[in-house]
Amino acid sequence: MTILVTGGAGFIGANFVLDWVAQSNERIVNVDKLTYAGNLHTLAPLANHTQHAFVRADIADRGAMDKLIAQYRPRAIVNFAAESHVDRSILGPGEFIQTNIIGVFTLLEAALAYWKGLDAEPQAAFRFLHVSTDEVYGSLAPGAPAFTENHRYEPNSPYSASKAASDHLVRAWHHTYGLPVLTTNCSNNYGPYHFPEKLIPLMILNALAGKSLPVYGDGQQIRDWLYVRDHCSAIRRVLEAGVPGQTYNIGGCNEKTNLEVVRTICGLLDENAPRADGKSYSEQITFVKDRPGHDKRYAIDASKIERELGWKPAETFESGIRKTVQWYLDNPGWAKDVISGDYRDWVHKQYGT
Ligand code: NAD
Ligand code: TYD
Repeated sequence: MTILVTGGAGFIGANFVLDWVAQSNERIVNVDKLTYAGNLHTLAPLANHTQHAFVRADIADRGAMDKLIAQYRPRAIVNFAAESHVDRSILGPGEFIQTNIIGVFTLLEAALAYWKGLDAEPQAAFRFLHVSTDEVYGSLAPGAPAFTENHRYEPNSPYSASKAASDHLVRAWHHTYGLPVLTTNCSNNYGPYHFPEKLIPLMILNALAGKSLPVYGDGQQIRDWLYVRDHCSAIRRVLEAGVPGQTYNIGGCNEKTNLEVVRTICGLLDENAPRADGKSYSEQITFVKDRPGHDKRYAIDASKIERELGWKPAETFESGIRKTVQWYLDNPGWAKDVISGDYRDWVHKQYGT
């Protein structure tokens, strides 16, 4: 048996692939375009591992998707591939439309053609799991109930609008064509191998480099933080037991303001890697211009997945952020390669431009 994942050289996808190989004997085929966010160094422990096959390809390339699916005949496809950074989507939304909408459409078409040709038993067992975000639900007022799966779609950024469109396509391919799809909408992830343009890794690495810690606006925006390996275990559970056509919200039950997150990181670094001058890293916090259209608050109501599939997160924010800070302290080489662009040079050598 084989599962096929897309975007498995990115932050969440790579954590998923590494955990999969550690916990299952099933082959995993990993398809990734290797954009700036795809980093094969993360997958180095799997080099020459017979259970893992990496293929560089674009989910928007129908020919490539058809060929791969025909070659590996997966029992499931898990789609992580996306353009994922809100700030980049504000500066240049085109790639977000291309991958998050056209790419998902293309992958759905390839999956549907394959699924239609399967015998009854593998057809009934096949799953297309689409990984999405809580940002499709828009911004919550302080004190408003957390997002359930029935919350209205109100995306506010080009990123969340493109993810919302992809969720609608996935839903329609189920209702119209019968493709057995599952959709997960999760909150902000954090943990090992997180690309340092996102809040948590950026703050850890800037702090250690003696740079400023740029907090947007007043830092009172709230996110619900989910440890990445908890997210991966939730996806495995949905893949195993989720009901086709259903969506599942995945959250960490950890609402924090951005300023709280940054201060917690500074506290952990003060404890584990104190500054030479004895001062706190929090002295490096600076308040900068706010993000345009900045969503105030996200919070996930994850009671459905707990009730129906028996999943809940293993980590609290306190335990997860401690592990994360320690991971960055223990793995300076990974971050150095990302920041210096060394991993890109390697991709060019390996694959050409
Ligand atoms: P990421 O940006 O770290 O990784 C995305 C990966 O997809 C990269 O390896 C990239 O090379 C690949 N990719 C991009 N375009 C592609 C294409 N056209 N074809 C094939 N591969 C392509 O993202 P992430 O943080 O790992 O997020 C994974 C998924 O989870 C995304 O769908 C994202 O929307 C969703 N999500 C992420 C978060 C979060 O906090 N990181 C929260 C909610 C949902
Ligand atoms: P981010 O990690 O980009 O995730 P998202 O926008 O998908 O939630 O940002 C998390 C929060 O941190 C968001 O409210 C924006 C804020 N932020 C900063 O204050 N400073 C920064 O340098 C970054 C990257 C984010």
